[in-house]
Amino acid sequence: MKKAIIYYNSRKGTTKYFGEEIGDYLKAKGIETKVCSVLDAKPEQVNGVDYVFMGCWTHGLFIVLQHPPKPWIEFAKDLPDLKGKKIALFTTYKLAIGPLFKKMQNKLNGKIDPVSLTLKSKTDKLNDLNKQLIDKFLLD
Ligand SMILES: Cc1cc2nc3c(=O)[nH]c(=O)nc-3n(C[C@H](O)[C@H](O)[C@H](O)COP(=O)(O)O)c2cc1C
Repeated sequence: MKKAIIYYNSRKGTTKYFGEEIGDYLKAKGIETKVCSVLDAKPEQVNGVDYVFMGCWTHGLFIVLQHPPKPWIEFAKDLPDLKGKKIALFTTYKLAIGPLFKKMQNKLNGKIDPVSLTLKSKTDKLNDLNKQLIDKFLLD
């Protein structure tokens, strides 16, 4: 059985519920999945995991200067090596995410293989397009 972990950083709950929606979708596909706040992340949780999803809300000036929030940056700093695992990033936002995914990748530099999937959503729901992207990510 494949295993996944989904880490989220959320202020008001949107990103948490979006992460849980991703988790429910993976579980329905038979993947053993844990959903966890970045505040509760522990290095041993990634042992034996095939897929790592890491998400945060979009923090910026709504049209420019988007970046990951501080707790997510701290989480990225403390993460163990994730090479050999498939990596997905996700965010929720209101207007524009700008360079957010690029900044998230920079914080993970040296610890991960290239990111295989990015998902963004203005709601806490997983839409059909995002489901298709996840299907492709799991197959590739
Ligand atoms: C201080 C602050 C800055 C934000 N900056 C942006 C932004 O630059 N672009 C954007 O689209 N949304 C921005 N948002 C909106 C949030 O990213 C969005 O509402 C998100 O879904 C919140 O997730 P959460 O409910 O998990 O906290 C900002 C919100 C706050 C409070």
